[in-house]
Amino acid sequence: MSSPIDPSLVPPGLAACDLEALAEAHGTPLFVYDEDELRRRCRAYLHEFGDGNVAYAGKAFLCTAVARVVAEEGLHLDVATGGELHVALAAEFPPERLVFHGNNKSADELTRALDAGVGRVVADSFDELDRLERLAAHAKTPPRVLVRITPGVEAHTHEFVETGTVESKFGFTVADDVAFTAVRRVAESPVLDLAGLHCHIGSQVFALGAYARAVAVVVALAADVEEATGHAIDEINVGGGLGVRYRADDTAPTIEEYAEAVRAAFARESAAAGLRSQPRLMVEPGRSIVGPAAITLYRVGTVKVISGVGTYVAVDGGMSDNPRPVVYGARYEAYLPARPAAPRPLEATVVGKHCEQGDVLVSSAHLPDDVAPGDLLAIPVTGAYGYSMASNYNKVPRPAVVFVHDGQARVVVRRETLDDLLRLDLA
Ligand code: LLP
Repeated sequence: MSSPIDPSLVPPGLAACDLEALAEAHGTPLFVYDEDELRRRCRAYLHEFGDGNVAYAGKAFLCTAVARVVAEEGLHLDVATGGELHVALAAEFPPERLVFHGNNKSADELTRALDAGVGRVVADSFDELDRLERLAAHAKTPPRVLVRITPGVEAHTHEFVETGTVESKFGFTVADDVAFTAVRRVAESPVLDLAGLHCHIGSQVFALGAYARAVAVVVALAADVEEATGHAIDEINVGGGLGVRYRADDTAPTIEEYAEAVRAAFARESAAAGLRSQPRLMVEPGRSIVGPAAITLYRVGTVKVISGVGTYVAVDGGMSDNPRPVVYGARYEAYLPARPAAPRPLEATVVGKHCEQGDVLVSSAHLPDDVAPGDLLAIPVTGAYGYSMASNYNKVPRPAVVFVHDGQARVVVRRETLDDLLRLDLA
């Protein structure tokens, strides 16, 4: 394959922008988001599911600017730790639109969430329900609780991000009536307010049928709970997980196709289960909102040809700004923004600057033959779980993040300095 980069992998606002000038101004590695694309994706979800029914999953990438964009676009926000909650509150995200997740929330985290007045707490275990009931006894109003169900459904994705099967550490399994017992407990608790049910089957999911199966399980449980307790189920949140295209040869359902499949399953299963309440259908996407909205820019420093082996193109970042290839075997593409339409006959391995052989960013990258030190190299579709999983491995400062709107860039996360690397050290 020597064709140029597929333009559909690069968000339009960035294709039109002088990336070399951006790299000059802000340095590399650099995460560059097309803010308009980010907003378009928020709106596409809202359009499909309706006002109040979409929570952006902040774990995919959260900073003050993202929280503000998400707030302005009218989405809810899923926060999964006290740290994510802290960033959301610091960005003045409306607390009633926060969905607080986590499979091991501490009493401190729960206290902060209740004090802040988060809109929903997603209960994940009986131990957490004990903690929550203890704390809620002192709350002004009973917290709205979603009960996370493990529907026993395979999402056909990487095992590390497969979360809906019985083996999962998350939620209450539907097996042996565990989930039913948990939901009934919340419904009958004098200090908790049952909002509904939640499930999340996994991430980077392409198989829409898996959503339909999960919806069937959760809706059937909702009907059982309604029947047994007389308590209406107001919300069913089917989590996030829609996969995205990282490479030209990937095929992923669109937001619209995903929405159609989930809505159809929801309508069908609600009718089949005889569900009397009409819960709102909520979703919680992360990757499919931010992933395709960004690229990462790197500077090539070394091109090493090893006879009989191949070519290494080494850039000034690596597994510290994008651990996904190392952790999940994730595959990306690369191109040179100076010549996006150039054929890419050279098959090379794009590596970082860390002291491990496994520090690979793109395992079989296609690049122009004349790639050379000093070239700017871009990896598209790095907006999700890149910066958010970044580290300081080898004491590499984390990159800056810029948002581009109308050809203008603004820094939303500054680059770490060498002194930042020492800020926690006590002599
Ligand atoms: N809701 C819950 C409860 C989740 O656990 C997740 C992701 C989401 C929503 C959002 O899923 P998304 O739409 O982004 O697929 N680091 C991995 C992905 C981990 C996903 C964790 N949970 C990766 O880089 O592939």
